[in-house]
Amino acid sequence: MIIPKKILLANIPTPLQTIKFEGKNFLIKRDDLTGVELSGNKVRKLEYLIYQAKKEKSDYVFTDGGDQSNHARATVIAAASTGIKSKLFLWGKDKPDADGNLFLDKFYGAEISFLNRKEFSRVNEIMFEERAKLIKKGKKVYVIPEGGSTTLGIWGYISFIEELRKQIDLRKIDGITIAAGSGGTAAGLLVGAALLKLNLKIFAVNVLYSKQEIKRKIFNLAEGCVLDFKLPCSINKDNLIILDGYSSEGYKKITEDKLRLIKHFADSTGLLLDPAYTGKAFSAYYEYFITKNKGMKNIFVHTGGIFGAFGRRKEYLRV
Ligand SMILES: Cc1ncc(COP(=O)(O)O)c(C=O)c1O
Repeated sequence: MIIPKKILLANIPTPLQTIKFEGKNFLIKRDDLTGVELSGNKVRKLEYLIYQAKKEKSDYVFTDGGDQSNHARATVIAAASTGIKSKLFLWGKDKPDADGNLFLDKFYGAEISFLNRKEFSRVNEIMFEERAKLIKKGKKVYVIPEGGSTTLGIWGYISFIEELRKQIDLRKIDGITIAAGSGGTAAGLLVGAALLKLNLKIFAVNVLYSKQEIKRKIFNLAEGCVLDFKLPCSINKDNLIILDGYSSEGYKKITEDKLRLIKHFADSTGLLLDPAYTGKAFSAYYEYFITKNKGMKNIFVHTGGIFGAFGRRKEYLRV
């Protein structure tokens, strides 16, 4: 078994808390507290990816995402902290009054290429074309694909399970609920649980891809990681459950009823959820676990994304 190395970027362990909402207790793992600038789940993956970029003496890291991508923002900041330049390929339009994650990308001086939806569908090709141009100029470029979800990046959530095991007896827990964008977080959790021989169900709320597509992505990453790192475990496919239908309005949109739940949750607990990931995942978790009083058996992971709320502040204030 090969265990990859990482640099330290995240404030971990993040707290595991019991919160009361509408009179019912539930467990929440506060990965929104991994840092201020580096808030959220992405930093756990970046600890491994930026280590590798450094090791390869990269001048640049490239990555991609939506114009309010948490992953892109976290990559820019993680790269800046280690002296590497970053270039982003973002789906969306430039905005002079950029807010939230896009504001931070600009503030940290990332170079940004804005792509329309059609161009974004071939973003990997575009990134590798740009990389080839820089290589010709003698530069080294490390490309981090969507969401930092590679078989290396998902180690962030393999080690998360070990961290969680020190905080709670996981044999008494049935499952973990998270938002799934590129699927790397869910894949890491599946591998982490398999490595420790825990029979944990991973409930992934797909916010971007269809149920079939996200399943395929998660299993490819998890099984690829088992092979790449020669891990002594196999993935039990029954342990992945997709809670589908919580982003049918589209990745870049959010329904009013979800916004109202986010607001009600904030007013009652003090915790802020984001519009693209945790707001949608929480709305599934609320229906499946909190209302059924099963929140002490299933851990909700707050994966961050707070800056995304600033990008949508008018909608947040409307409800
Ligand atoms: C706040 C937040 N939560 C969850 C996710 C989903 O993580 P993954 O892409 O590993 O599925 C993301 C991904 O961008 C995110 O920004």
